[in-house]
Amino acid sequence: MPIETSAVVGDPGDAELLAVPFTSDLSPSVELHLPVSELLAHYEAKGEAGEIVEVPVPRGDGVGRVLLYGVGDGSPRALRKAGAALTRRVKGRQALTIVPPDGDVSAFAESALLAAYTFKIGSAGTKPVRELRFAGADEGQVRRAEIVAQAVALARDLANTPASVKNPAWLAERAAEQGLPVQIWDEERLQSDGFGGILAVGRGSVSPPRLIQLSYTPAEPTDRHVVLVGKGITFDSGGLSLKPTDNMKTQKTDMAGGAVVIAVLGALAKLGAPVRVTGLVAAAENMPSGTAQRPSDVIKHYGGTTVEVLNTDAEGRLVLADALAYADAELDPDAVVDIATLTGAISVALGRNVGAVYASDDALAKELIDAGQESDDRLWRMPLIEDYAPALESPIADLSNIEAGSTYGAGSITAALFLREFAGRRPWAHLDIAGVGRSTVDEGALTKGATGFGVRVLLEWLTKS
Ligand code: BES
Ligand code: MN
Ligand code: ZN
Repeated sequence: MPIETSAVVGDPGDAELLAVPFTSDLSPSVELHLPVSELLAHYEAKGEAGEIVEVPVPRGDGVGRVLLYGVGDGSPRALRKAGAALTRRVKGRQALTIVPPDGDVSAFAESALLAAYTFKIGSAGTKPVRELRFAGADEGQVRRAEIVAQAVALARDLANTPASVKNPAWLAERAAEQGLPVQIWDEERLQSDGFGGILAVGRGSVSPPRLIQLSYTPAEPTDRHVVLVGKGITFDSGGLSLKPTDNMKTQKTDMAGGAVVIAVLGALAKLGAPVRVTGLVAAAENMPSGTAQRPSDVIKHYGGTTVEVLNTDAEGRLVLADALAYADAELDPDAVVDIATLTGAISVALGRNVGAVYASDDALAKELIDAGQESDDRLWRMPLIEDYAPALESPIADLSNIEAGSTYGAGSITAALFLREFAGRRPWAHLDIAGVGRSTVDEGALTKGATGFGVRVLLEWLTKS
């Protein structure tokens, strides 16, 4: 379900429910016929982002309300916090008219919309506010916020959908709905084209794997071509290297990277992105069964590289390897970015708020980190430590999919080194979003469950560069 709250440009007029910004000098930005400074002082408001002081005011024959909202230092970060707090406060209401803070309103509006996101099967709970009216705001900025927020919501929806509904074929159908040219490899075509990694991971499941390709071409012709690759494991049980229940129960979101790729591709045309983009989603369900791959099997990836599978739970890198090798061999991109809930180890390193970026190219890393800062999908660069490459040596194949012993550790780094083997010599970046792909709290623009992390940074990068 998309975000049910709409964002429009309005005028403050005699709004039932009006939000007005204030800063640390406790003066609101518009004339309200209220002793505002005294009220704020009375409630000990400090002007911090996220603070809201609600004041009843006479309106016609009844009572209206003004929400005085703090904007902190007025930075995009503070404004995002302020916007989300407002939406959460007016849950269940018809409309909120907002006198926006100074400057570009898109980050503020985007965050306000994202805080209204819910995923429910059934009709429990209070509905989000129906309409947010941004008084006197720039139409284009509000529209951009809405497109980006709806793309994040789509990524969240896809990832929050239970795996009993969401198998690889289902994910391919959702991709095909994005209004773009699409190509789908079913199991037979995967076989004949040599996608041995995707097939090996998918073979334990009754729902066969798919490789999904979406293509966006801008209206203005351009030479620049970016390939996005998403991990699309619709459920990761671990396979025969089975996960314990507690670790398994979050793994319907193991296609979060693939969901981001689908949502980003779907939004590019609406935002008029000036670059050609191909999206690849390597989709499979990782299940244990009599047909599943075994620890110790050797598989052959697209392009011929052989891999000894020592742990079937290190499956994300196996499906990504095929897609990366295919992109390098067939699509001639100027840059490749993959996005994946790849390793538990990255949430030990960076926690739940900051995603990891690995890159073979400093300029690409910087562009992504800057876009992350701007869009609030924050990224931190992690190193591809050359000394750890021997961790992936195999006595019988070109590579093993995990370290056999425990000499090197660094689970997220060794996973990235594995992927690098398949990306070719092109500028390549890998986003490990295992830590940030899910949220345990409703806070700011985040809602419990899938976060859609990656949509905002990639859209920022692809539309502003
Ligand atoms: N999908 C998991 C990674 C994951 C863990 C994502 C927790 C989100 C939350 C991935 O396929 C996996 O199982 N990785 C293993 C790799 C190990 C077997 C080398 C891990 O991180 O434990
Ligand atoms: Mn796994
Ligand atoms: Zn996984």
